[in-house]
Amino acid sequence: MLAKSSLLPLLAPLVAAQHDWSQYVNPFIGGEGPIPGQAFGGGDIFVGGARPFGVAKVGIDTWETNVSISTINGGWTPKGLVTGISMMHESGTGGPAKYGIISQMPLTTLDAPVNILDNRTYWQERVGNESASVGYYGAELKNGVSFQVGGARHSGIMQYDFPAGDKYILVDVSHFLPNEGGSNEDQYYAGGAIEIESRGKQYTGWGAYGGGFSNSGPSTTYFCGDFEQAPAEAHTFRGRNTAPVQRQHNLASNTIPHPTFRNRSREESGPLTDRVGAVFAFSNSTARTVKSRVGISFISVEKACAYKNQEIRSWNLNDTVSGAVKEWNQDVFSKIQVSTAPTVNRTNLVLLYSSMYFMHLMPSDRTGENPLWEDSKDYWDDFYAIWDIFRCTVSFYHLFQPTYYASMVRGLIEIWKYEGFMPDGRSGNYNGIVQGGSNADNILADAYVKGLPGINWTEGYQAMLQDAEVIPFNTFNPIDLTNGIQQGRGALYDWIPLGFVSADKSTRAISRTIEYSANDFSLVQVAKGEAPQDVQKYLNRSANWQNIWAHNFTHKGFTGFPVPRLSTGEFNVSDYNPALCGGCEWQDISYEATPFEYSFTVPHDMQSLIEFMGGNDEFERRLDYIFQPNTSEQSLGANGAGITTIMNIGNEPDFATPYEYHYLNKQAKSVNISRALGNEFFHDATYGVPGNSDAGALNSWFLWQMLGVYPVVTQPVYLIGSPWFSDINMTINGNNTLRVTATGLDNANSYFVQSVKINGQAWNKNWFEHNDVMKNGGTIEFELGSEMKAWETGDVPPSPGHYEKPRP
Ligand SMILES: *[C@@H]1O[C@H](CO)[C@@H](O)[C@H](O)[C@H]1NC(C)=O
Ligand SMILES: *[C@@H]1O[C@H](CO)[C@@H](O)[C@H](O)[C@H]1NC(C)=O
Ligand SMILES: *[C@@H]1O[C@H](CO)[C@@H](O)[C@H](O)[C@H]1NC(C)=O
Ligand SMILES: *[C@@H]1O[C@H](CO)[C@@H](O)[C@H](O)[C@H]1NC(C)=O
Ligand SMILES: *[C@@H]1O[C@H](CO)[C@@H](O)[C@H](O)[C@H]1NC(C)=O
Ligand SMILES: *[C@@H]1O[C@H](CO)[C@@H](O)[C@H](O)[C@H]1NC(C)=O
Ligand SMILES: *[C@@H]1O[C@H](CO)[C@@H](O)[C@H](O)[C@H]1NC(C)=O
Ligand SMILES: *[C@@H]1O[C@H](CO)[C@@H](O)[C@H](O)[C@H]1NC(C)=O
Ligand SMILES: *[C@@H]1O[C@H](CO)[C@@H](O)[C@H](O)[C@H]1NC(C)=O
Ligand SMILES: *[C@@H]1O[C@H](CO)[C@@H](O)[C@H](O)[C@H]1NC(C)=O
Ligand SMILES: *[C@@H]1O[C@H](CO)[C@@H](O)[C@H](O)[C@H]1NC(C)=O
Ligand SMILES: *[C@@H]1O[C@H](CO)[C@@H](O)[C@H](O)[C@H]1NC(C)=O
Repeated sequence: MLAKSSLLPLLAPLVAAQHDWSQYVNPFIGGEGPIPGQAFGGGDIFVGGARPFGVAKVGIDTWETNVSISTINGGWTPKGLVTGISMMHESGTGGPAKYGIISQMPLTTLDAPVNILDNRTYWQERVGNESASVGYYGAELKNGVSFQVGGARHSGIMQYDFPAGDKYILVDVSHFLPNEGGSNEDQYYAGGAIEIESRGKQYTGWGAYGGGFSNSGPSTTYFCGDFEQAPAEAHTFRGRNTAPVQRQHNLASNTIPHPTFRNRSREESGPLTDRVGAVFAFSNSTARTVKSRVGISFISVEKACAYKNQEIRSWNLNDTVSGAVKEWNQDVFSKIQVSTAPTVNRTNLVLLYSSMYFMHLMPSDRTGENPLWEDSKDYWDDFYAIWDIFRCTVSFYHLFQPTYYASMVRGLIEIWKYEGFMPDGRSGNYNGIVQGGSNADNILADAYVKGLPGINWTEGYQAMLQDAEVIPFNTFNPIDLTNGIQQGRGALYDWIPLGFVSADKSTRAISRTIEYSANDFSLVQVAKGEAPQDVQKYLNRSANWQNIWAHNFTHKGFTGFPVPRLSTGEFNVSDYNPALCGGCEWQDISYEATPFEYSFTVPHDMQSLIEFMGGNDEFERRLDYIFQPNTSEQSLGANGAGITTIMNIGNEPDFATPYEYHYLNKQAKSVNISRALGNEFFHDATYGVPGNSDAGALNSWFLWQMLGVYPVVTQPVYLIGSPWFSDINMTINGNNTLRVTATGLDNANSYFVQSVKINGQAWNKNWFEHNDVMKNGGTIEFELGSEMKAWETGDVPPSPGHYEKPRP
């Protein structure tokens, strides 16, 4: 009897693994911005059926009626008109739309005014029954069609419930997500083909699409779709292309024509880039269901068909959905286990698992789907952008997704090997574009210092050297003609001879000087093991941010700021205000954050930074200041989430700043600020993140906040925060367990650290190292309370890049 009952605890982990954590995911978090009903200023997230790091993201494409402020990059918008249901999307990105390709659209009439070449004549409002869950999306259109979709890795299944009357599925190969206003960054269609097989039961073909954020050349996507039952009729069509695309033959000044039906089983664009597609008609006077599966591939029609057939073996849509749920639970959600007892705050459960969900929609694991070169095992796309995810998202992948992550890092190195540079942004099989530094360097350094296995670091270091030493060619991208912004570090022509990015010869001089410094510190970290002779050189360069530091420049009572410096060496202080950045755009002195914000982003040498800002007390006073309301002098506009502090949690450069009190041994203040930011800006609501989620970057910041630790990128160091749950089991590094427990959380506002134990030992530092608990697992025990206690007495977190240059 005794023996029998002692077996029970062994069964517990098994039961836990089968728990359906996906039920806590709210897939709409981030779909809306501050203006109710509109996407603008929101997370720009994808809503639909997808797998962790999957290739296909099956969901709707919409057009928001208020085009001047629409942001349709994720496809879904709260009230936008549906123009199609397509196979590929980005998630969370704020730049020009990419994808929204390989679509279907259910229509109940083709009569005038419908012109199937003009989506504005058939687009549909959603009238209700909209729902989404992991792997699933469904809604009802004004024309009476209800539809549901389920996502698999390279394929999707669609179920359309038509009302009585005519029933059509339109396949427009030339469909893609357009840009809001129309610009040189628009996507474009570069031709395609479609073939109807088996009397319309199956169709195959390809479309080529370029442009968007990465400014890519055309990339070919093959597709293979079929229907559960053959349609009554199927017809291909073609029509002249009237999209205004440079260097392409088209009729851009003409109105959109009507399609031509030529009764051919195959239509192909040809040299005039004609639009092609097909209409499938399911004639039946009564209501009925039409089901379809579509597979996609970058290699061939055969592969697209094989994905469809192998990944979606059943016509029951729920089989695909439950397959998705199983995969997400197994590969993602079950890796963080907290109590789901009824006493647990459900909102926090939703925030936890939804945050994990949004971090796994991008990048895309395209292994086996590389059309560019043959001999790589690992191939990844949709780094949109590394500028966003290097700060704390990838450190999460390192711990929780070591297999995927090693493949991702190898994929970055393979891109360098075959294309000359690792990407900072990449989509559509094309590097582009670089917002600041060459931040893949930071990913490699972070992986290196934490000992990610399975990487050839000889090659990894070579890839980083390329970024550090070779000026990328200029593609004359109209958003910044001054230097190459496709890949690499465009302003190396300043950086190498001058030791800073100059304000007269280069754009984004302040932010790039600071980011390039961090990139060179990344080289230091890898050089320590791979090329010791290079360490001094890059350590020296990693301190180049000091070259633009004006020690006597004063603003709002604070002395010492980064200041624009001319190539002649002079500081240019005329009209300079470090709390302003123009529009924080490509042509400005700093990108997507003010110099004031960037001045806090020197994680490798906080020691010098604190000295430069006037020592501990002045540094603390300055931190206190940037978290105070109404200190921001830069208007963030409608995209600003109502933030009036200088510190802007809605944008990535400031991610680590709320934790910088750690460097003063005032961890309680970091907890106070970061917790308040989490509470104020992250919600279980459609307007639930403070700005573009940026491929899950914002979600990952918040996730670390909830777990009670924060990684210092490029160092094997984690800052100790304060967890939101009293017991968290995390499966890290493959199959080790890190358990984080906390007492005291039952009382409101009782989240300040009173004491910490790591692996059972009392801990007096506010940080720990990777090998302490993140490699083999371990325990962190928090005693929490309402007192803002100065509990830490040990060393402040390290400044491994500490280096003082002669003052300029
Ligand atoms: C469109 O957005 C602008 C900017 O927020 C707003 O002022 C205007 O009222 C909106 N128009 C409509 C029709 O929603
Ligand atoms: C939603 O679905 C229900 C049940 O399937 C149906 O009765 C209803 O008409 C649908 N449409 C709307 C707009 O609610
Ligand atoms: C819809 O039609 C407009 C006007 O022709 C076009 O600009 C846009 O690219 C089309 N596609 C979508 C998905 O909106
Ligand atoms: C369409 O093509 C089929 C087979 O090639 C032929 O039998 C049929 O008559 C054609 N229909 C029209 C309207 O041309
Ligand atoms: C029409 O729909 C009805 C009801 O769903 C079904 O029984 C019948 O087989 C369909 N007929 C055809 C020709 O598809
Ligand atoms: C899938 O299952 C859900 C509930 O489990 C149900 O509401 C829905 O109608 C099902 N969809 C299909 C296409 O079977
Ligand atoms: C964490 O794991 C321990 C040891 O297996 C177990 O006792 C505890 O209940 C788990 N906690 C949660 C929240 O799953
Ligand atoms: C649950 O957590 C949310 C967000 O963290 C908080 O706003 C809410 O007050 C909590 N609810 C309860 C009942 O404690
Ligand atoms: C690492 O890459 C280098 C350069 O391509 C190659 O010479 C070496 O054999 C590789 N090392 C391993 C262990 O594969
Ligand atoms: C650091 O770099 C500067 C600029 O290249 C150079 O003048 C200086 O000698 C270097 N310092 C050391 C210690 O190498
Ligand atoms: C501030 O420092 C710069 C560079 O060190 C120097 O050129 C300038 O004269 C100084 N200005 C004042 C007001 O001290
Ligand atoms: C998990 O642990 C087992 C044995 O301890 C080991 O053989 C296996 O490789 C580990 N798996 C991973 C993914 O690390």
